[in-house]
Amino acid sequence: MREQKNTIPIWVWIVGAVLVIGCIFAGYRTIETRQHLEAVKSKLVSVKHLAAKTAAESDAQINELQIKLDQATSEIGQLRNNLDTAQSQLKERASSLETMRSELESAKQSAAKTAAEFDAQINELQTKLDQATSEIGQLRNKLDKVVEVHAEIMTPLERVASTPKGQLKSPYPDFASVAEEGHRKYMAAGCNGCHGGGGGGGMAAPLTNPIWIYGDDDDTLFRVIALGTGKLSPDDAFRKLGYKRKGSEFTVGPMPHFGEIIKTDDDLWKIIAWMRTVHCSRRVEDRC
Ligand code: HEC
Repeated sequence: MREQKNTIPIWVWIVGAVLVIGCIFAGYRTIETRQHLEAVKSKLVSVKHLAAKTAAESDAQINELQIKLDQATSEIGQLRNNLDTAQSQLKERASSLETMRSELESAKQSAAKTAAEFDAQINELQTKLDQATSEIGQLRNKLDKVVEVHAEIMTPLERVASTPKGQLKSPYPDFASVAEEGHRKYMAAGCNGCHGGGGGGGMAAPLTNPIWIYGDDDDTLFRVIALGTGKLSPDDAFRKLGYKRKGSEFTVGPMPHFGEIIKTDDDLWKIIAWMRTVHCSRRVEDRC
């Protein structure tokens, strides 16, 4: 029976053992694989989490960037606006500068013109001034001459008294030049009352005919008129000087003295100058 007991053959044991070992191994492998899968799964989960997190973060960043981009865009827009404004302001300024420049240019031109006009006016004035200066010089010369002449001027009586007989000489050898003036003085002194307006005589002797009662030289004529003759000569001055009647006219009488009535010797010389122009020796008709 004991033999019976050992009926289970060895190969069954071996197979059983192999099976057991195989089962154990397979179970172990399964556990290992499960564990591995578990780990992979959890890793996947965590990767998923991470991915989700990263995606969220990316979204946030993208949003942030988008906002920043929007801001940047709007800033760029503003800057462009500013730039446009600045550009248009610059343009305006440039055009106003241009206007100013052209205004300056025209002001400069008109200033130059004005300066030229001023120069011309100054030149003109300078010329006038020069003329005036030379005229003043001329007038001063004339005045000096007049003053000189006046310094020499005396009353006819003074001249007669200060000049020796025979030495009175007319300063007007060119007597025609002062004849007109002399005639006015002749009329003003009243000579025409006796000798006629043209000197042809009337109440008294003609001054135009060939007869000269006392002589026709300057000295004699000057003294006749200044001192008078005959009874009408104060203190008989004329006769006392030695003048005698040489000729006789149709009327005979004394000639009044004009030495005080005629103011200056110059006036008297001018009257004598006129007398010489109307004397017959000077005239074409009824020449003597
Ligand atoms: C009141 C009249 C009267 C008046 C005015 C008069 N005379 Fe005579 N004149 C005479 C008489 C008169 C004689 C002649 C004198 C004699 O014969 O002595 C004379 C003579 C003369 C002579 C000489 C003439 C000759 O032929 O030689 C002269 C020149 C002269 N008179 C000039 C003048 C002048 C110039 C005036 C004016 C300033 C003047 N007389 C005013 C009356 C006058």
